[in-house]
Order: sequence, then structure tokens, then C-alpha cells
Amino acid sequence: MPTKALWGDGRLCYGGDWNPEQWPPGVWREDVALMRAAGVNLVTVGVFAWSRLEPEPGRYTLDWLDRVLDLLHSAGIRAALATPTASPPPWFSLRHPDALPVTADGVRLHHGSRDTYCAAAPAYRDAARNIAEVLADRYAHHPALALWHVHNEYGTTCHCPHAEAAFRRWLTTRYGDLDALNDAWVTSFWSQHYSDWAQVGTPRATQYLANPGQLLDFRRFWSDTLLSAYTEQRDLLRAANPAVPVTTNYVLGDWVPVDHARWAREVDLVAIDHYPSAADAGAEEQTAFAADLARGWARHGAGQQVPWLLTESAPNQIHTAGRMHTKEPGRMTRHSLAHVARGSAGVMFFQWRAPAGGAERFHSAVVSHAGAGTRVFREAAGLGTALGRLAGTAPGRVQAAVAIAYDAASGWALRHPGMPRDALDHPGEAAAVHRALWHAGFTADVVPPGAPLDGCRLLVLPALYLASDATVDWVRRHVHGGGHLLVTWLSGVADEHARVRLGGYPGAYRDLLGVRVEEFHPLADDEHVPLTGGGTGRIWSETVHPAGAETVSAYAGGVPDGRPAITRNRIGDTYAWYVSTRPEDDTYRRLLTEAARLAGVTPTCPGVPEGVEAVRRHDGLLYLLNHTDHPQRVPVAGFELLSGATVDGELTVAPGGVAVVREEIP
Ligand code: GLA
Ligand code: GLA
Repeated sequence: MPTKALWGDGRLCYGGDWNPEQWPPGVWREDVALMRAAGVNLVTVGVFAWSRLEPEPGRYTLDWLDRVLDLLHSAGIRAALATPTASPPPWFSLRHPDALPVTADGVRLHHGSRDTYCAAAPAYRDAARNIAEVLADRYAHHPALALWHVHNEYGTTCHCPHAEAAFRRWLTTRYGDLDALNDAWVTSFWSQHYSDWAQVGTPRATQYLANPGQLLDFRRFWSDTLLSAYTEQRDLLRAANPAVPVTTNYVLGDWVPVDHARWAREVDLVAIDHYPSAADAGAEEQTAFAADLARGWARHGAGQQVPWLLTESAPNQIHTAGRMHTKEPGRMTRHSLAHVARGSAGVMFFQWRAPAGGAERFHSAVVSHAGAGTRVFREAAGLGTALGRLAGTAPGRVQAAVAIAYDAASGWALRHPGMPRDALDHPGEAAAVHRALWHAGFTADVVPPGAPLDGCRLLVLPALYLASDATVDWVRRHVHGGGHLLVTWLSGVADEHARVRLGGYPGAYRDLLGVRVEEFHPLADDEHVPLTGGGTGRIWSETVHPAGAETVSAYAGGVPDGRPAITRNRIGDTYAWYVSTRPEDDTYRRLLTEAARLAGVTPTCPGVPEGVEAVRRHDGLLYLLNHTDHPQRVPVAGFELLSGATVDGELTVAPGGVAVVREEIP
């Protein structure tokens, strides 16, 4: 396994993005000394250094990078060497104007920021392969090289003529003939029938609502096209030295540009960048969800387990609505160790040293504008020590018996225009389920549809709008194999082309759930509908007819007044739940706790106080993260790795602190 080269010594990875191209060599030496002081052992180098590596077409200036890598090696720090293809130099734009990206409304973008290229343009692909090859030739056997980091956060799309031609080729492969495409896109609607491939294009700006099938395929096309840009670099890097693992960092958050689960098959380790957007407790909820997503991709996307690594995170500020929110002391450490608890092979920051200028000059850094004599640097050094004490413990599998299905394409399709409500959000619904379980003390896996569900007692489909026949079959096999199921509104309403499955919603799962939905009643942003038995629903409501299912809770108001809101259908020894609204958080928590209980799932660490996150792993470690500002007592026995103390039945976790216990097996 090529990832051996990365942590063959059992240490967790620790470091971040380092940009020596922004600084004179005196600063490099200072940086490396500081890295050693902080316990750093891996840095990502060269992500945006193309114009320093190739200042003119075909003229390469690599001496500085030789010196940087030699310096790292002499200090015992390994390099994740990046290919710099996310930011072509200005000469590239002037030489290849046809390779600059075009927006849906036909505006051609220009350099001056980053990611200014069309990955379907041959000139861009040639230049990207070329610079990757130059780096591979020179550094594939450099002793500092631990990992190839291809590009940065693939996700840029384009509507230029190259993109259009490539989209057409992709569609020809997908559909074979135009009849199949016309059928999939339902082009009988609004006279969109295509009679020649030349008429088929990218979804450019339209006068009114665009075609949903076309929009969805455009996203899939770009995911595949960007993936091929990655794999062609990967292949040439691998050919230069098969022992060095190759990856590319995924961007997470609201923006889901590619199908990360599918990409996971093509990387030697799953790499995620995670920046919470909430300043309140939402930051911890988002962190846990992101880590569980990464673990799911790493475990299932590849068909075999690959490791995963947090490749970027903020050492300080959270970028939240309209301002940067300072991470309170200890919070960066908790976020970092939450990722490690959930299986990350280490912690990497963006960025090591704050730049003096440039667009991200006020982005947080381990070495800030104030230098290294700071609270943030001291906390980073403390984290380095803590990670050192966890050597030999990663990457770990996590114990979880609930799985939440997550699918990029369902997220894309729910955002199409013409839906019954704005702001429909599959990732947000998956996060809401995860959050409710997190608060109730359950650990969940987040899995792509089709993933093996071994060990899963309860499968949740949160607004999993698209259901191919294969997905339906996957869900059915889970239930008929004795697994419990909880399906929320809008799941299984459409097929993989975003065509509605007819006969009453949710067409894909009606029979399993024992319900038939006659109509939707979307709610306004500030609207709540009371539910019998307590609690309220938001966002959505429906007219649900039971067809075998029992009613758990009914609407107490609105058009569906008195009709079922939440149902469950008994199938043998299992339950298939249907939730036709978005219960607000407390209601959701109670509901999921009950569904888990009936499925025989217990909380991760019963007895853990509210506000303490517990993650139990297959390697016998229990991570405890105290997100409160009080000391918290947890019943546990074993050995605490960070302090080196023995724990006899009860452990006090400091306010905002973390403990990692190797549990005594009773
Ligand atoms: C207008 C159009 C119809 C249809 C409706 C939808 O009336 O003429 O084709 O789009 O709006 O409300
Ligand atoms: C992303 C990018 C980085 C940087 C950070 C800022 O993760 O990969 O280059 O822009 O965001 O948070």
C-alpha cells in the first residue's frame, strides 16, 4: 500500500500548507525551526507556485524548490508536494485565451485570482500535465517526498466551446443515442426535443427555468471531467515512483462541486479541507459531520478502505456570516482531535505562515502577522505534543451502527429551479440527522448509496431525492436483511435523471414504508406546524395516506391537519419509518433516539454528560471531547494517553479539554 511511505513510522501527520515562494530563504530557515518546535512532520508545498516554477512557458526555475525540499529533509519534515495546476500563471491566459473559463451567461473570466482555466481545454490539460511531469522527473525520488498533492480543490466549471464539445462527447457515451437523451431529459416538455447532437449544449443562461436533466448531467459531466484531469496527473506521478501515494484535496461545505464518493476510488488517501461556517456550537456539529463524511468516502468510495487525512483546517478564525470569528482557546485543538477521533491520519492547517499581502492576507495561520510568540502558536505546539502521544493509533475505524446516506447528485438536483420550495438541501438534511444523533450521543457513519452496510442497524435516507433502481435495491436488501430504515421527505421521489417516479410519492419506497403521499405542502421559512405528541415540523409537510404503516405522530394544523406526519411500517422484526416534515432539533433527537433504540443501537458512551462528544474506535480507544466550559466527569477505566494517567472508573475532562482513553476490557 503506497500510503506506508506517509506514516510508516506510526506518527500522525501534522503540519499544513507552507508557501516558501512568498518569502526569502531567511524566513524558510526560521519557519523550519518553528515547525520542529511545534512538532510538525508534514507540510504541503507548492500549491500555488506555478508562476515561480515556470515563469515563462518552458523555462523552469526549480532551484528554490530543491533547496526547500532539502531543507525540510534535513529537518526530518516530509513534504506533500503539490502540482500547482489550480493557478496557471498570467502568461498562460495570454497565450491560450481559449482555455479561460466562460460562465453560463457567456462572460469569459480573466486571471487575477486563481482557478482561471477550463479543464476541458486541451491547452490547459497539456500545460498541467507538463508541469506535473517536470515535478515528477525532478522530485519523484526526493527523500523528503511523502505524498503527491495534485491540484487544489477541483471544482471549476465552464461553458466554453471546448466544454460544450466535451459535454456532448460525454453525453454520447452515457446515452448512446439521442432518443435515450430526449427520454432522460423529458425534452417533450417546452419543445426541447433534440433532433441532432449539434443542438445539445451546456446549460447556458436561459430565458426561464432550465431543464433539470440537463443541469444534472452537466454537474456529473464536470465531476467526471475534473476527475480525468486528476487521474492523468496521478498516473504520470505514479509512473515516476509507484511507492509515493497520490491524492487531491476535497473542498467541503455548502459547495459540492464533484461527486467525492466516486473520486474516492481514484485516490490513495481521501484528503478533506474543512472550515466550519458556524461560530456557535454548530462548528463542532459540522466538524463531526465532515469527519464522518470523509471516513465514509475513505471506507466505501474505494471499495476498499483507504486512509483519510484532514489536509486543511483553520488554526484560528472561523469565517462566518460577514466576519471572522476567533476560535476560543482550546477550540482549535478540539476541532483537530475530533477529526483524529473519527479516523483522520493527522491534522493539517491552512496555513503555516500568514502572507503579507494577497487575497487571503487576513486568513488565520499558525505563524500569524504577529509572529510565533502568540497564543495560537503555543496551542499549535501543544497539539503537536498531543499528536506525538497518539503515535501508533491511526488511522482508526470507528464504531457506529447508524448510517446516513449522502449523495452529491441528490444535493445538486434538489437545488434545481422549479422545485416546490427554495433552499431544499440534501447535505443540510443529512447534517440535521447527524446533528440530532450527535446530540443524542450516537456515532453515525455517512455512506454513499450502494455502500456495504455491514454493522449498520439503522439506515437513514435524508431527503435522498434521487433513487436509481440500484439504490432502491440497496435499500430493499438492507431492510429484508433485517436492517431498520428511516426515510425523510423528498427521498426517492425522482429517478437518477431527476424524473418523478409516478403513482404517489415517494415512488421508490412507498411499499417499504407502507404510505402513499398525495400532495406536498411546503412551509414558509418562519412557519412551524405542530405535531401531535409534542414538537413541531418545519420546511415541509405533506398529505400522507397510510397503506399498512401505523401513525406515530400527526399534523395538528395546516392543510394536512389530523393526517400522519411520522409513520412506521413493521416488516418482520424491523421498522421502516417515514418522516414527512423536518422535525425541529429536539423532536428529531427524540425520534432518532427511539428509532435507534428499536433497532438495538445504544449510545456510544452511555453516561457521558451533555456537551461531551464521545467516539469509540475499533482500536480500543475512547475519545472524549468536552465542548463545555465546565469540568465533566465520565465513567471510564483505562489509561489516558495525553496525560499518561491511569483512570480508575471515573475521569474528569477539563473545560474545553480532550481525553483519549485506552479502555480496560472488563
Ligand atoms: C404561465 C405559462 C405556462 C406555465 C405557467 C406556470 O402561465 O403560460 O406555460 O409556465 O405560467 O405557472
Ligand atoms: C481552501 C483552499 C485554500 C484556501 C482556504 C481558505 O481550502 O484550498 O487555498 O483558500 O480554502 O480557507
